[in-house]
Amino acid sequence: MHAGEYTSRMSVEPREIDLLITGAAELATAEGDGLHAGERMSEISVRAGVGIAVHAGEIVAVAEDAELERKFRASECLHARGGTIIPGFVDAHTHPVFAGTREEEFELRTAGSSYLEISEKGGGILSTVRGVRESSHEVLVAHLMMRLDRFLDGGTTTVEAKSGYGLTPDDEIKSLEVIAEAARLHPVEIVPTFLGAHDYPAEFRDKPSAYVDLLVEEMLPRVAEGKLAEYCDIFTESHVFGIEDSRRILTRAKELGFQLRLHADQLSPLGGAELAAELGAHSADHLEFISDAGIDALAEAGVVPVLCPLVPLYLRIEQEAPGRRMIDRGLAPAISTDFNPGSCYVQSMPEVMTWSALRLSMNAAECLTAATLNAAASVGRAKRVGTLEAGKRADIVVLDQPSHRFLCYEFGRNAVSAVVANGKIVRDRLGSKA
Ligand code: NIG
Ligand code: FE
Repeated sequence: MHAGEYTSRMSVEPREIDLLITGAAELATAEGDGLHAGERMSEISVRAGVGIAVHAGEIVAVAEDAELERKFRASECLHARGGTIIPGFVDAHTHPVFAGTREEEFELRTAGSSYLEISEKGGGILSTVRGVRESSHEVLVAHLMMRLDRFLDGGTTTVEAKSGYGLTPDDEIKSLEVIAEAARLHPVEIVPTFLGAHDYPAEFRDKPSAYVDLLVEEMLPRVAEGKLAEYCDIFTESHVFGIEDSRRILTRAKELGFQLRLHADQLSPLGGAELAAELGAHSADHLEFISDAGIDALAEAGVVPVLCPLVPLYLRIEQEAPGRRMIDRGLAPAISTDFNPGSCYVQSMPEVMTWSALRLSMNAAECLTAATLNAAASVGRAKRVGTLEAGKRADIVVLDQPSHRFLCYEFGRNAVSAVVANGKIVRDRLGSKA
């Protein structure tokens, strides 16, 4: 049917669609298909009495309930019961492919050990590497599927997922194949990232440059050939990959067609942000110790700072990323969980929003933009997801809270009452009827 034909007939014949969501006190969303920086992060659309029409996996209309009910007849209806409708969250930084957890390290930190002390004693990333190497593809897929379920429980519909706990060519490829299989099976959309440069495996500790050679000569080409990752990430930090090694690895990755993201300036002001800008990375992540020159470099190069405010809390590090200063300087931060078994065993974006508000001095609208549109832009998905607008993929969350402001204000309780992913209802506490 042509658009014109539809317009002339709509008053007499409602269009048949898959899903209608009405009954919300508020619909809150950023609008657009690219990054929102500085003051624009606060300029979200907040409307009362507005719902959404969904068909064939896409949003077909966002309009007042009465108008939607006139124009559409849906095979399924969700009544939001006076809650709030927001876009599905985009978690732009996670490490979800692992076996084994590290709750004993958490307790060592509460007793005063630092993250680096624990990793120097063979804990940290390398303890999870042992777990991944010992686990089969099937076991890792089962773990990942369960974790993807938990992302959905919290309203996250797109997840960037890194390898990085294999650290051999075969174990890194195994991890990326696990991600690919889970992406086929699960409604959460996954953005795959190769993080072979997460640490030096135990067998290369006395010859680290040989591991850099292995990354450049074998691992990156094999991952590229298998089309197993869109992004290449790296842990740029003085105890792991310094600036020169990082530049070498990322330059090779770029030549092979990967987009780039970096763990940068997380534990010290090494200049990872400046390197991200120099190489045109899509994102520079963590950034607790970023310098003023680093902030300027990100601003000039249009790199998205992906902030992970739960991580310093978890690692008991005082220093926070300068989120407020970045927004005031005209940057466009995203926020993420950094979900992983060591430095943040949390999968909830609303928790990240609360922490961004309290610790990074971001307002509720800025937090929402950072958790949706800017996060989507940082993973190259802003044209498809991150806002509630006609033509975008129908990734929608209904909250049982009366306004988006409650996402930061109330924490420690899951307020998600329904989730729609790619047009399908995948969580429903509203008791909806077909
Ligand atoms: O983002 N910084 C490096 N990687 C993770 C920690 C991973 C781990 O401890 O297992 C992070 O914090
Ligand atoms: Fe990380």
